[in-house]
Amino acid sequence: MEPVKAGLLGLGTVGGGTVNVLRRNAEEIERRAGRGIRITHAAARDLDKPRICDTTGITLTTDPQDVVSNPDIQIVIELIGGDGLAKDLVMQAIEQGKHVVTANKALIAKHGNEIFAAAQKKGVMVAFEAAVAGGIPIIKAIREGLAGNQIQWLAGIINGTGNFILTEMRDKGREFEDVLKEAQELGYAEADPTFDVEGIDAAHKLTILSSIAFGIPLQFEATYTEGISNITREDVAYAEELGYRIKHLGLTRRTDKGVELRVHPTLIPERRLIANVDGVMNAVLVMGDAVGPTLYYGAGAGDEPTASAVVADLVDVARVLTSDPENRVPHLAFQPDAISDLPILDMEAVETAYYLRMQAEDKPGVLAEVTRILGDRDISIEAIIQKEPTEGSDKANVILLTHVVRESKMNEAIEKIEAMKSIHGDVTRIRVESLKA
Ligand code: NDP
Ligand code: HSE
Repeated sequence: MEPVKAGLLGLGTVGGGTVNVLRRNAEEIERRAGRGIRITHAAARDLDKPRICDTTGITLTTDPQDVVSNPDIQIVIELIGGDGLAKDLVMQAIEQGKHVVTANKALIAKHGNEIFAAAQKKGVMVAFEAAVAGGIPIIKAIREGLAGNQIQWLAGIINGTGNFILTEMRDKGREFEDVLKEAQELGYAEADPTFDVEGIDAAHKLTILSSIAFGIPLQFEATYTEGISNITREDVAYAEELGYRIKHLGLTRRTDKGVELRVHPTLIPERRLIANVDGVMNAVLVMGDAVGPTLYYGAGAGDEPTASAVVADLVDVARVLTSDPENRVPHLAFQPDAISDLPILDMEAVETAYYLRMQAEDKPGVLAEVTRILGDRDISIEAIIQKEPTEGSDKANVILLTHVVRESKMNEAIEKIEAMKSIHGDVTRIRVESLKA
């Protein structure tokens, strides 16, 4: 049988990795897909740029439209990124009846509802395994492997760059900026790295996971997002003293009142496997009612790990090219007419435990006042540490761990504590999740 012809948009980290994996494993891929998969055309901005892959035999262009509108191309692989040009190209590809494979989480999280509706109408696939957690086949695991379960919650380290930064800061005492630069050189970071460190990239991915876990529309705008740029080495050390690791976690949970959808730095008990996921590695912990907890682990970014997911999608598309569109796995795991309208919970309504750190004057009555403010709001304290002031300072670091409380009550308490004369600067607040089965 003739090989399937694919057109590639983007020849950067993931595009280059995809060309390399497809070439190296061509024989194995053909045995799996039932026919070969060949990239015949590719687009990039600068055709003179050195590439990580061999482009021999691929017709190159600087105009991505040439690729999308080529009638011989059956699959368009979108690896440009962003949600401007990429969206136009993907919509055009769908309109022309082509299947799409993409690693673009921003595109899917923000425009997936519209894209999947268009794809459904045209009977084409839009596959996006590489968009979440790099090489980990987490979309397939939730959408197909766990299809017999009611998913209760899932939590994941889903940004490789952020986890790499936190790990290097903790293990080697390196500075934030220095590690971020290395992550960029290694091809892990987004074109705009604030997406990684401010949690936007993780929020894109969590939006997608939440949707396929609970059968709800993609609702990126409703995701609560907090980054890691305010985490200090002190917090990392204090957390360890208390038996926790700080991880940048994406968490989504189905509750009676709605769906929690949140990305923020989180203290996790160090004995949990996920607390020990380091460097660029990602992990997603999924709790199903039948299976219990399951954990998926692997490289969250990088050329070939991500290409592994892109090529798996290409194999899926090649396999279904001849099958009836009505009988394919639905894009968001649930049939389009069975998507539910469960509301996303406001962050103020979320209930969790907290780590608080504050700079307090080292004098009698200060701690008593802090605990009174917490007690007045039924916030009970699990642990408290007061550090000796450093030489020449009259301020001590006070670290508190609380039990679970509603976020709105904690917001009130923090406001009151910050208003105390004997408390200096802002209170650092990091949420704590036990991630118990
Ligand atoms: P890169 O910046 O390395 O590559 C982007 C590619 O797109 C480049 O080859 C660039 O051309 C090309 N490009 C950009 N604009 C145009 C244009 N107007 N016309 C033609 N070509 C264009 O990005 P990545 O490979 O890192 O990321 C690609 C996608 O994959 C993104 O959506 C990203 O979020 C996602 N992703 C990335 C991962 C990673 O580890 N890097 C992991 C998982 C997903 P040129 O090279 O000439 O500049
Ligand atoms: N910038 C992303 C990360 C790439 O670091 O996780 C993988 O999606």
